[in-house]
Amino acid sequence: MLSYRHAFHAGNFADVFKHILLLQLLHSLRRKDKPFCVFDTHAGAGRYDLHALAAARNREFAAGIGALWPAPVLGAELSDYRDQVRALNPDGALRYYPGSPWLSRALLRPGDRLLLTELHPGDYPLLKATFAGDRQVAVHHADGYASLKAFLPPPERRGLVFLDPAFERRDEFERLRAAVQTIHQRWPGGIVALWYPILERIPSQRWQRQLQELGIPAILCAELGLQPYDAPRGLHGTGMVIINPPWQFDQMLGRLLPELLERLGGGVHGQTRLDWLVPAP
Ligand SMILES: C[S@@+](CC[C@H](N)C(=O)[O-])C[C@H]1O[C@@H](n2cnc3c(N)ncnc32)[C@H](O)[C@@H]1O
Repeated sequence: MLSYRHAFHAGNFADVFKHILLLQLLHSLRRKDKPFCVFDTHAGAGRYDLHALAAARNREFAAGIGALWPAPVLGAELSDYRDQVRALNPDGALRYYPGSPWLSRALLRPGDRLLLTELHPGDYPLLKATFAGDRQVAVHHADGYASLKAFLPPPERRGLVFLDPAFERRDEFERLRAAVQTIHQRWPGGIVALWYPILERIPSQRWQRQLQELGIPAILCAELGLQPYDAPRGLHGTGMVIINPPWQFDQMLGRLLPELLERLGGGVHGQTRLDWLVPAP
């Protein structure tokens, strides 16, 4: 039973974090001429109207993209991200927010491809309509985990698998771990980005220890925390694990994370983390 709808959370601080990192991964793929493929396993609706009832309910975007929107000056990565959101809002008022498929599509070059899977019966038709007639984007009403074997490795042999699950299920970390094994067996050279929430500290730490035991080299972990991790239930922070990160991605994150924390108002409880779970060879 799928009840999560990303429309309620679009543009919140976790989206800002994940989408800036996604854009930086895409920019790194564009540095070489050879075509690449992006597989976004949990695609959502593609783009979101922040004036719609869902987003307006809790206005989560106000503390996310809303906090960056009016800033007079931003560092390079934040500015690049905001430019992508601005491109969807040409009249200058923040109304539409790009989901990960929209951002990936914006950075495809003519020979590149985007594969999308989305399982929700409400979000899939929205996603399908967003990319109707676009020959570089394939949209599937399918389980992203179950589709890994069908779609990997891509013929391009260059690219990214972006896994951004809803964490509605208690076994989501387990499913991500299994997905990492499948992806690595089929496509050891692919970049893999796994988003996760920090609700309680222990499950994500346990999962990261399990990833360290898989025998996979080059696993980087970045986190942004806004609330104390031992606070009562809620989204206290967010993280991303990146397997095969691009050259010097850690250095870029070392600059970006403190700026992001400051911009999003981390306050006394704010914290960032940047660690190699397994070093690059
Ligand atoms: C966090 S949202 C994705 C947001 C999107 N990646 C973005 O950044 O704009 C997670 C999405 O995964 C979908 N979903 C849940 N389980 C899935 C599965 N097994 N396969 C594919 N999609 C799934 C949900 O319906 C939801 O739309």
